[in-house]
Amino acid sequence: MDTNKRPETMQRITTRELANAFIDEQVKAVREQVGDKKVLLALSGGVDSSVVAALLIKAIGKQLYCVHVNHGLMRKGESEAVVDIFGKTLDANLIYIDATDRFLDLLAGVAEPERKRKIIGKEFIEVFADEARKLEDVTFLAQGTIYPDILESVKQAEGKKAVKSHHNVGGLPEDLKFELVEPVKLLFKDEVRVVGEALGLPHAMVYRQPFPGPGLGVRCLGAITRDRLHALREADAILRDEFDKNGLAEKVWQYFVIIPDMKSVGVKDESRYEGWPAIIRAVNTKDAMTATVEEIPYAVLHKIVARITNEVEGINRVLYDLTPKPTGTIEWE
Ligand code: XMP
Repeated sequence: MDTNKRPETMQRITTRELANAFIDEQVKAVREQVGDKKVLLALSGGVDSSVVAALLIKAIGKQLYCVHVNHGLMRKGESEAVVDIFGKTLDANLIYIDATDRFLDLLAGVAEPERKRKIIGKEFIEVFADEARKLEDVTFLAQGTIYPDILESVKQAEGKKAVKSHHNVGGLPEDLKFELVEPVKLLFKDEVRVVGEALGLPHAMVYRQPFPGPGLGVRCLGAITRDRLHALREADAILRDEFDKNGLAEKVWQYFVIIPDMKSVGVKDESRYEGWPAIIRAVNTKDAMTATVEEIPYAVLHKIVARITNEVEGINRVLYDLTPKPTGTIEWE
């Protein structure tokens, strides 16, 4: 039997009861697979890895070691939320690595998007591998693989070309050999969310919008600098806050800020003020292959513009990207 193929008879998990049944089944399966061995998990704080972490904590408790690598390209408050929920509330074995300097030093002066992605992906694996080597006797690696990931790799194996090099944990060095634990690999995203809520994870974490592996690194366009990255993080937090307050967070699939590596002339306190533009992107999509741009009420846009230009040092303009995909990709790099 191909364990990577979702059986046609498998019911879609749409209710709490179905989610609970799935959880019971997986807890049993994981215990059988793992026995008393240790399991390692790269916990990014995204929906998939968070749900897998919660499921494994339920199944095997402290046999699970979660490693959260903060690459310095997370959104505001995200790493803190991971520490709060998993380290404190769920009392997991959580190893928190602040690798900000390691990443930003390597990225300094690198402007080419694919090189940036490659550096971030490679360094992520190295930091994670360093931690894995420090832990002894780990047999298993848990991953938040979901069914669309499997469908995507089948497509790639058939020779279809990817537009960008996406990064997820994979391709660990030769000396690190683990057996995989992938309890949600046959689920679609909406099902993973239902399971996450049934496991008691916060709504905001389970319904979090997608966030690329290279994080804010692909939204701080060109060569990343710490001051522009800081401005981006603050502006993005304001955008998210206003979307929450105005009921847009549930209606828009992905919304974020991008800051290009350019300045324009503006005016503040009656003086010349050269600053970066913050670009807003807010899109809806079914499968991320195509995307449409949302109509955001002008009143909300004006509020966002006022807050970003007043509250964020270094930004003097706000633009709204009206380009669907194609021709624009969702991210700018
Ligand atoms: P694009 O920019 O290709 O993005 O239209 C499509 C979707 O993929 C997300 N994205 C990534 N997700 N690792 C990920 O896990 C990545 O490296 C990555 N790059 C882009 C993007 O945010 C959008 O949702």
